[in-house]
Amino acid sequence: MDLRIKSFEEYKAKYAQSVEKPEQFWDEIANSFNWVKKYDKVLDWEFETPKVEWFSGGKLNITENCLDRHLAKRGNKLALIWEPNDPKERFVRWTYRELYEKVCQFANALKSQNVKKGDRVIIYMPMIPELKVAVLACARIGAVHSVVFAGFSASAMADRIEDAKAKVVITSDGLNRGTKQIPLKRIVDEALESCSSVETVIVYDCLSWLPNMKPGRDVWWHDVIKDVALECPAEPMDAEDMLFILYTSGSTGKPKGVVHTCAGYMVYAAYSFQNVFQVEESDIYWCTADIGWITGHTYIVYGPLLSGATSLMFEGVPTYPDPGRFWQICDKHSVNIFYTAPTAIRALMACGDDHVLSYSLDSLKVLGTVGEPINEEAWQWYHLHVGKRNCPIVDTWWQTETGGIMISGLGAHSPMHPTHAGYPLPGIQPALLNQEGKEILENEEEGYLCIKFPWPSMIRTTYGDHERCKNVYFSHYDGYYFTGDGAKRDKDGMYRIIGRVDDVINVSGHRFGTAEIEDAMNTNPMVVESAVVGYPHDIKGQGIYAYVICNEMPTDPDFARGSIIETVVEQIGKIAKPEKIQFVSGLPKTRSGKIMRRILRKVAEGEADKLGDTSTLLDPDIVDEIVSGAI
Ligand code: WT7
Repeated sequence: MDLRIKSFEEYKAKYAQSVEKPEQFWDEIANSFNWVKKYDKVLDWEFETPKVEWFSGGKLNITENCLDRHLAKRGNKLALIWEPNDPKERFVRWTYRELYEKVCQFANALKSQNVKKGDRVIIYMPMIPELKVAVLACARIGAVHSVVFAGFSASAMADRIEDAKAKVVITSDGLNRGTKQIPLKRIVDEALESCSSVETVIVYDCLSWLPNMKPGRDVWWHDVIKDVALECPAEPMDAEDMLFILYTSGSTGKPKGVVHTCAGYMVYAAYSFQNVFQVEESDIYWCTADIGWITGHTYIVYGPLLSGATSLMFEGVPTYPDPGRFWQICDKHSVNIFYTAPTAIRALMACGDDHVLSYSLDSLKVLGTVGEPINEEAWQWYHLHVGKRNCPIVDTWWQTETGGIMISGLGAHSPMHPTHAGYPLPGIQPALLNQEGKEILENEEEGYLCIKFPWPSMIRTTYGDHERCKNVYFSHYDGYYFTGDGAKRDKDGMYRIIGRVDDVINVSGHRFGTAEIEDAMNTNPMVVESAVVGYPHDIKGQGIYAYVICNEMPTDPDFARGSIIETVVEQIGKIAKPEKIQFVSGLPKTRSGKIMRRILRKVAEGEADKLGDTSTLLDPDIVDEIVSGAI
């Protein structure tokens, strides 16, 4: 059960073993879980199709490993602490037994609504305990959950429902986020106008808003759990059965459904959670992410529960009612391990030190970051003011597609170097490739970050389109999984992640494809064409800079900007709002019609003096116009 490595020496030995004998290495770890039927084979793989199978022949249910197996020893231990948006409201604490009962009960409710193994269920909910229950209840009966972050718009949700051909949506009347409230059910209703697959909508009553309930389709959560049993046998799942789909953006097209499967994801979620955070039995662990992202899946729901840990869940935002909220919660619940995003650290840092200095934070032992490269200044602030120089910071690099943390320190056991994620976890074999696709073996070199051997929680496919999975991740370099990131290996072999090398923008740790935002903007009737790039942003890491061609130059640019922003918010959600919109009469294109984003990026970064060669452009004059109109 305790999967922890306890020193850097042990790490080095384990790492070597994991590369030499990966199957034996993972077999030992997998053995510590409960299997309905033991697997026949640890690993089968090739990266061409790609086809990756872990623990095949095995049967299990992840919720049995999250809940049932803890009941004997940890039945009365807290599984979950929930802190509401409003600090004056009551917080919630559930033991493992209570969570187990609620999950079983809701699993039975899902069954009563005709949800079957393999059915896709969209979950669009606030950060409340019932969200965790909904996720686990799906897993209990073998339904495939797809959580959609409750900041996405109706149109973004409709795309996901359609792609997943979801049968059920679980939502609430609305949600609280800081001073704002969002009418989730209304957004679901709007999304469902264009979706035919959904038969049932289950609505949790969060705000007593009495939303419109469509007869024959919409049912209340509190009604469907009424007359069902508190025991629900866990559905035995094949190791490679789908556990969940999570949509994420890529450099082209609409967001794709990243598919994770039961056994491999389970093994790696627990292994990485325990090792990176070095969690001890009595620790209170808090990850501030939303369950709508992979961080929430692996390190709020599954990793902590698989490890029998106590995990805190927070409904609100870091700045409500004031920018001391995170630290107030840490002190209130004696949080030992705290995991957040660089963008949150920078935002709080900008609010002044007083908000953090008024809290003791003496329970903290390990700090973590995730989502984007952390800059030195934010790292130092976090280390000094939050960690009081006593806490190691684990800078965890990973992706929706990797399912779990890939490169990171292991609590206090690894050497720490600000802005460096560090060393790969045991079982993870990173590689840097050069322009020609050749692996760089030396240190102090920079290249495209790839992974050359499978790991248990890796992406299996993109839902409904395996070819896309192959093209996006396995076709750039034969025999390698390509991450889309650039990285540098220092003289000691530590990795420093530089950032995306594809057309993906990372805004506050959230991923958007440039094409996705352009497609959204282009639906505005004023817009003829657009090009979007990222630029460095003090708080968000990257901001969105849009170059837009309108059918005629807007006479009231502010009005036009407002209208275009509104379109993006409608198509994707508030989180994708472009920060800057520059109206242009043309875009720098090559003779073959390809937009030269390199130039647009330089202008957006304020480095118009470093444009490089523009001689291959169809219309070099347009560059002068763009440079002089830059915002
Ligand atoms: C992309 C993945 C994994 C959960 C959060 C985001 C960037 C993530 C780090 C880090 C530098 C990081 C990468 C990666 N990223 N963590 N510690 N240092 N960059 O998941 O939405 O799938 O995004 O986030 O660019 O490719 P995601």
